[in-house]
Amino acid sequence: MRQLRTLNDLSITEINYLLTQAEKPIAPLNGFYTAANLFFEASTRTKYSFEMAEAKLGIHKFDFAAQASSLEKGESLYDTLKTFESFGTDLLVIRHPQARYYQELEGLNIPIINAGDGAGDHPTQSLLDLLTMKQEFGTLLGLHVVIAGDILHSRVANTNAKILEQLGARVSYAGPAEWMPPHISAKQLLTMDEAVKQADVMMMLRIQTERHDGKAFWSKQSYHNRFGLTEEREQKMLPHAIIMHPAPVNRGVELADSLVEAERSRIFKQVQNGVLVRQSVLKYLLETKGAKRYENIV
Ligand code: CP
Repeated sequence: MRQLRTLNDLSITEINYLLTQAEKPIAPLNGFYTAANLFFEASTRTKYSFEMAEAKLGIHKFDFAAQASSLEKGESLYDTLKTFESFGTDLLVIRHPQARYYQELEGLNIPIINAGDGAGDHPTQSLLDLLTMKQEFGTLLGLHVVIAGDILHSRVANTNAKILEQLGARVSYAGPAEWMPPHISAKQLLTMDEAVKQADVMMMLRIQTERHDGKAFWSKQSYHNRFGLTEEREQKMLPHAIIMHPAPVNRGVELADSLVEAERSRIFKQVQNGVLVRQSVLKYLLETKGAKRYENIV
């Protein structure tokens, strides 16, 4: 059963294939396919770009509303998903606040695309980020990417750091010490003033307040001054360097308001690429549900 729970479910060959396919015109799929989109955590980009991708591929989607479902009567997540499998649904797209929620779903016989699991992983976000960087620089080999902000609570940072290093990029980090995971070494840490002078990509992250148990660490202004990409810092970036952000952006906190749509910002390009890579992933998983076809495609 082909799944996309983390990028470990894909080989590097498959990742390159998906990125290449994303840039080609994709026609509606042959045959009738259905997908259920189950979002247990808020989303704008991921949810609606999956819907856009499904519409373009001619996939019929079920939009799941947890509060109007039998979860309210105490039904488990597993039984809810087993129900969609029993309907004959071809694929599930799931976002859930619990990291590695999919480990509890081993008995299912239906492909799952992980649309974000707590502070765990966000594989389709990473694919769209890789596509954006490849479009900009042609290759990821030797690229210096600084991931800046709330690293500890960010599934985007987690997934991107792993795959960028596998693909030959150098990853450094900037942000508050209390939000640095223990595996990050001192030589990977930069101040924001150092980072902007060295990075090819400044990948800014939102403060994940929903994962802070109500603790307030920084005022917005003090965070912006110390760890934000301010207009003054942007002036010191390398001429070719770009700004990325998975969004939603808290304007004026991690990123100056005026920089969200600045010339070197690729934030809305990332959103546009989200539809392309999700089309590519949906098509690939639906067409490779049988292992034989999978072998033939890549
Ligand atoms: N980047 C991202 O996952 O955005 P949403 O939370 O709006 O889906």
